[in-house]
Amino acid sequence: MYDLALKNGFIVNENEIYLGNIYIQDEKIVEISLADKPANEVYDVSGKYLLPGCIDTHCHFRDPGATAKEDFTTGTQAAIAGGVTTVFDMPNTNPSVLNEQDLLQKANYFAPKAFADYGIWGLSLGEINLGDLPRLCEAGASAVKFFWGYAINAKTKALIYNYNPKDEDIIPPLGDGEVYEIFEQMAKTGKIIAIHAENIELIQTLTKRLQQSGKKDYEALIQSRPALAEALTIQTASLLAKATGARLHILHLTSKMGMEAVAQAKANGVNITAETCPQYLFLSAKDYDSVGPMMKVYPVIKHEEDRLALWQGLKNGTIDFIASDHAPHIISEKQGDLFSIPAGMCGVETMLPLMLNEVNNGHITLPFLVKVMAKNVADIYNLPNKGNLEIGKDADIVVVDMNKVDTIENEKLHSKQPLTAFAGRKIKGWPIKTFLRGQLVVDNNKICQDKACGKWIK
Ligand code: DOR
Ligand code: ZN
Repeated sequence: MYDLALKNGFIVNENEIYLGNIYIQDEKIVEISLADKPANEVYDVSGKYLLPGCIDTHCHFRDPGATAKEDFTTGTQAAIAGGVTTVFDMPNTNPSVLNEQDLLQKANYFAPKAFADYGIWGLSLGEINLGDLPRLCEAGASAVKFFWGYAINAKTKALIYNYNPKDEDIIPPLGDGEVYEIFEQMAKTGKIIAIHAENIELIQTLTKRLQQSGKKDYEALIQSRPALAEALTIQTASLLAKATGARLHILHLTSKMGMEAVAQAKANGVNITAETCPQYLFLSAKDYDSVGPMMKVYPVIKHEEDRLALWQGLKNGTIDFIASDHAPHIISEKQGDLFSIPAGMCGVETMLPLMLNEVNNGHITLPFLVKVMAKNVADIYNLPNKGNLEIGKDADIVVVDMNKVDTIENEKLHSKQPLTAFAGRKIKGWPIKTFLRGQLVVDNNKICQDKACGKWIK
């Protein structure tokens, strides 16, 4: 007798939708057929769609270090509530993940808190941990991130978000020579070096100019951190990746110009992939008047023509997948002067509903959604048990009701600081049940396990 059966659902993979029953044994999918077989736990999901659990490789869960903003429990609960069964935790925590020891410590620390399966990012700070990168990768870091253009606090090694060259005790942003060495080192590991792509020199020049002009509106923020800053860094990174043989990934792509730089690099044979995020696909500068400062993220959300170009790039494969860049802050911190407040927003829980709504709008198909939210991600980060609903894979399954209509609201989120730029959006198409390796973990937006059962994916 099987452990679990999901019967009469429409099974969705990256290039198919078909009717069937999924049978699960020991956390794995063991049979998919039309045969009616018994199981200890049976769900009739007639009329519903079964999707592979989404994979969100870009989550800042703030734990340890800034747990007033989020922690690994609330963050992973938000994930599974949103149909995301695998997350990768970003390394700008305190302590950060600079070497093998940090990695193993974080993996242990997360184990009793994890409601989703998890990967852990390593962080590159240049010379400080250059020699540690190979061991960090071997020990199981999912990939290594480099915040290009960020300064580092010399004492705590924390990243400095709003860099001022006059600040004391800082390690200034790295130069291209130092970045070259990071890429060289990462090439040896074969693992992905992912970058935050913004050129700090251009940003500093333009920020100074804007401060003199006294302009402080959203358009000024874009002008201080324009698409050119993104494209310049992507071009430099592409050349460095080609020269060193590093495997490059561009995080949170925001602009038409940046996307063209990625397309160019792909055409030139650079080993490069790219992601974008819901905030760049669903918001643009014209939304600032209604959404307000909570939509400040870095790199900043740009113009409508960028938003449309990103959709085009996602559809034609220039952009490989989407990720949330879930980066919560304290709700009160997100009010105030646009240039001083922190950048970042919640996103892990609303990403799938937003995309399901696009399916209902006729803009994309369900198989395409699965491709850019699960299958491509599993392929790129080498997660052989994740990404599609097939025999032998982990039974990470999201049951979706394509006819359910509901509104995104802050109060419904599971994050510790529930604040979303998408509040008030009416969505048709919602996840109604989430299974993590064959266990029902969310039922109608309620977390139904009290014990953490997520596992580290090395
Ligand atoms: O908006 C952002 N928030 N961009 C980043 O690069 C960092 C992130 C954070 O950690 O808050
Ligand atoms: Zn991020």
